[in-house]
Amino acid sequence: MRQIYITGRGGPEKLQIREAADPSSAAGELRIRVRAIGINFADILARQGLYPDAPKLPCVVGYEVAGVVDAVGADQDAHWIGREVFALTRFGGYADCVVVPAAQVFAKPAALSFEQAAAVPVNYLTAWQLLVVVGALRAGETVLIHNAGGGVGLAAIDVARHVGATIYGTASAGKHAFLRERGLHAAIDYRGKDWRPELMRLSGDRGVELIIDPLGGRHWKRSYRALRHTGRLGMFGISRVTESWLIGPLRLLDVVAGLPLFNPISLMNDNRAVFGVNLGHLWHEVDKIRAWMQDVLAGIDDGWVRPHVDRAFGFEQVGEAQAYIEARRNTGKVVLTVAS
Ligand SMILES: NC(=O)c1ccc[n+]([C@@H]2O[C@H](COP(=O)([O-])OP(=O)(O)OC[C@H]3O[C@@H](n4cnc5c(N)ncnc54)[C@H](OP(=O)(O)O)[C@@H]3O)[C@@H](O)[C@H]2O)c1
Repeated sequence: MRQIYITGRGGPEKLQIREAADPSSAAGELRIRVRAIGINFADILARQGLYPDAPKLPCVVGYEVAGVVDAVGADQDAHWIGREVFALTRFGGYADCVVVPAAQVFAKPAALSFEQAAAVPVNYLTAWQLLVVVGALRAGETVLIHNAGGGVGLAAIDVARHVGATIYGTASAGKHAFLRERGLHAAIDYRGKDWRPELMRLSGDRGVELIIDPLGGRHWKRSYRALRHTGRLGMFGISRVTESWLIGPLRLLDVVAGLPLFNPISLMNDNRAVFGVNLGHLWHEVDKIRAWMQDVLAGIDDGWVRPHVDRAFGFEQVGEAQAYIEARRNTGKVVLTVAS
């Protein structure tokens, strides 16, 4: 098999394809011949040395794949062989062959291509957890989706539309027209600008009931202040870390220095809630993940889950694919494809 290694901290030149023997599937596992790989922002942070959860270097990252099962562990049902699936991988997904616990594998809906299926797990599970499971968004409420043009952002738009909420989002200006087509009621340009005056104007100075914020650091403070009373802030990323002028892992200091300190008394008196989401820390709760995925799969059947692949790059073009995201050019998901 071929795997894409991060060989050291740095730019896309640190990505290298290496050959290895095919893994075999042990008890409880399925082996998948990969056809498409979902790229996540965390993969880029890992390469930059800014993702504390990443394995020790050199390593193979990758949280999600789609492909065809070609081998099963001794205790697994042979009916899996030849089935088209998609799966969550706890790293190791940047490969043309992976072995995964069966509990992390789902039958691929026939309506989805491999590329679309690889765009589902991380983005839609994260959006579902943020908006529905913890964020408790209800019809008639208003949500602000930061980074609405990213993979999670587009998934969150789908979920918020399904719930029946009013949806505002921040994104680079060039993405606004597309985001409105996808269901955003108003798009706000947040590049080099404060987005709050526009949000306050849109919400009649009241703020909104839910904000999902993957930017981190001081940005979380600003988002908290933009909540309406009874509002909730869901924090789930630290994208801003890449903008720091500091070098290497020191860039994390900027995020840490800007962290809000939430005071329980203020939370009570403000009637607001704050929460965090990290799908990468839920491997021990796979039953919950599977239940949420059933809701997402039902959404695929019903048509409100619309995984949008912005661009598919070849396996060998992984550096270009990551650079495309770093340059903020993607609207929705970027995937790698493996020729069959
Ligand atoms: N906690 C979790 O479980 C979880 C799961 C998935 C993702 N996340 C986090 O959610 C965030 C979005 O992930 P994603 O996979 O949806 O993103 P993505 O699809 O890779 O989108 C990247 C987009 O983020 C925006 N962005 C904002 N700040 C940026 C920066 N400093 N550098 C580059 N791009 C920046 C850009 O769009 P605009 O300029 O148009 O806004 C860019 O196009 C990341 O922080 C990621 O780590 C967390």
